[in-house]
Amino acid sequence: MAEPLHIVSPGPEITQSLGRTIGEQASAGDVILLTGPLGAGKTCLTQGIALGLGVEGYVRSPTFVLMTRHKGRLTLHHVDLYRMGSPAEAWDLGLDEQLLGEGLCVIEWADRAWEIFPEDCLQIDLDYGADAEQRTITVETGVERSDSRFRDLLLLLAKQSAISGA
Ligand SMILES: Nc1ncnc2c1ncn2[C@@H]1O[C@H](COP(=O)(O)OP(=O)(O)OP(=O)(O)O)[C@@H](O)[C@H]1O
Ligand SMILES: [Mg+2]
Repeated sequence: MAEPLHIVSPGPEITQSLGRTIGEQASAGDVILLTGPLGAGKTCLTQGIALGLGVEGYVRSPTFVLMTRHKGRLTLHHVDLYRMGSPAEAWDLGLDEQLLGEGLCVIEWADRAWEIFPEDCLQIDLDYGADAEQRTITVETGVERSDSRFRDLLLLLAKQSAISGA
């Protein structure tokens, strides 16, 4: 397993700007798995990703519809598995097809269906930090970092978090 990258975000705008970098760098077919408790900042990060993809308009959490699509440089498939009953429902959603497609899949509550995702995903875990605006963000890939399609992006995120003091 690859060495995780640990980032401390001091506020939502920093989480969003990390997301923006991810959106700017994303390639067709990338899959980004988000985990962490309610209110940790998964949707906030996704809003940044959408900005980085040039998606117009506000990206809401799709909790009640499970999946929404947004047009940008790449199509953003924003999935929220919070209300999903079982991993089988992910298949019913057609999620497997989205995962193989040319868009960028961002999946909140990905831990509800680990088994359906490809190995080389970007896995981002968000959690609460020392104060109300602080979040700890852990980024890793399912394969060795040097072998991952996300290798350059991880380097960029490490640099960005060092510069922003995150
Ligand atoms: N450093 C931070 N990074 C991200 N969000 C933060 C930060 N500090 C405070 N917040 C606030 O925390 C909230 C995060 O909400 P968000 O909807 O992104 O969480 P979520 O993980 O998607 O929750 P859910 O599981 O309900 O979908 C927002 O109100 C945001 O302004
Ligand atoms: Mg959310």
